[in-house]
Amino acid sequence: MYPDLTKEIDTFVRRTPQSAQAHKKNLNRIPLGVASNYRAYDPYPIFVKEAHGSRFRDLDGNEYIDHNLCFGALMAGHCHPAVMKAVEPCLRTGTMYGMPHEMEWQLAEEIANRFPVEMVRFGNSGTEATMHAVRLARAATGRDKIVKFEGAYHGLHDNALVSVKPHAPEFGDIHRPSSAPAGLGIPQSTLTNVLVATFNDLRTVETRFREHPGEIAAIILEPILMNVGLCLPQPGFLEGLREIASREGALLIFDEVKTGAKLGWGGASEYFGVVPDFICLAKSIGGGLPLAAFGTHKSVMDLISQHKVFHGGTYNTNPVSMAAGLATFRSVLTRENYTHVERLSRKLAEGYRHIVGKAGLQAYIASAGANGALMLYPAEIRNYRDWLAIDVDLWRHYWFAMVNRGVMAQPYWWDEQWTISVQHTEADIDQHLAAFADVAPALARAQQERAAVAVGD
Ligand SMILES: Cc1ncc(COP(=O)(O)O)c(C=O)c1O
Repeated sequence: MYPDLTKEIDTFVRRTPQSAQAHKKNLNRIPLGVASNYRAYDPYPIFVKEAHGSRFRDLDGNEYIDHNLCFGALMAGHCHPAVMKAVEPCLRTGTMYGMPHEMEWQLAEEIANRFPVEMVRFGNSGTEATMHAVRLARAATGRDKIVKFEGAYHGLHDNALVSVKPHAPEFGDIHRPSSAPAGLGIPQSTLTNVLVATFNDLRTVETRFREHPGEIAAIILEPILMNVGLCLPQPGFLEGLREIASREGALLIFDEVKTGAKLGWGGASEYFGVVPDFICLAKSIGGGLPLAAFGTHKSVMDLISQHKVFHGGTYNTNPVSMAAGLATFRSVLTRENYTHVERLSRKLAEGYRHIVGKAGLQAYIASAGANGALMLYPAEIRNYRDWLAIDVDLWRHYWFAMVNRGVMAQPYWWDEQWTISVQHTEADIDQHLAAFADVAPALARAQQERAAVAVGD
């Protein structure tokens, strides 16, 4: 470990004793001491006391500018006033009915006005949205196989937990990646039906269709591969997928759980000008409450109407989440707020670029909509395997050093990215950049020292 990283972790431990204690208690009853594996990291995760606007406070009273924002699910920021105002009356008029109500068509209208879908159904998580989209695509085509991209995360159902973070040698040849289970419990039959391709490489997708003519129901992807930091589609890639899917009679599923709200007003299809068959939404559309939706052509949704494909859920369209979703679409994800966030996003990305250049750090800044990331690579990454080359200790040094200076620059884990909420301000960005300016020279030094040792080797 770099000496500077050790120092930063020591500082972290000194600043957060109550989190350490709380984590110890959690460990007795909760695996890893956390409710989702993504929240666990060494030496222990920060425990939150409260959050408002663009900031949160931990159990020890330390305040942080929050660019984690619940893994990018809070473009609204914490407790957005419009969302809170919409939700509060629901606490007096019923929090769940298990029966239809009028907010359903209102939110369906909002979604259909913004995204290229004719009909929608709702759920509570991104996992549900992609799970139902895949099932519907299989039903609509009468085919069992799907294509997903290596390194992509689409949630926790079996079909999604294939080749999420595979390693050599099990991941096979980059031109024909193997289907690797992301942990135990994934049936062999799932691996047979989930074919893997390489992001930004249309030839690997063509190969799959050539090998399995008439057997592939859908291509599912995040239009920007987010679980490798931020990996943008190269020009022509999304268009190429659209062409292949149409030619082969397969459906194109955009998993817009992150991009749907955060890339811009109309999500990835508007941003990139490519129209998929399915759009899966979750995270930031709920403004801080659990809400998801999937939408597609009426002809496909008719399979649900005809009772041929089953969809349900006790918590679906509970009025609290629906009121939050409506307020989010009408008062948070507005064109005006997108302009504000884009201005802050540009300022943060340009500020980082300037600091990286000045410090002599070998890195680049990837940025799109409300998201961005410090990418610790000499050149732009194109796919998951490029991402694997990251210097993890250098990234950890960055993250802990920023946290120690009151900035949670992004969620913990080097495959994540920052989010800017509509409640962040110019002052937040200035404070974020001041912290990074303080940290960057040590990062550059550590990088140079490691390079010198490598040459010596
Ligand atoms: C692109 C993408 N799809 C699906 C999911 C799963 O969403 P959820 O955690 O709400 O089930 C995530 C979560 O991080 C995601 O980033």
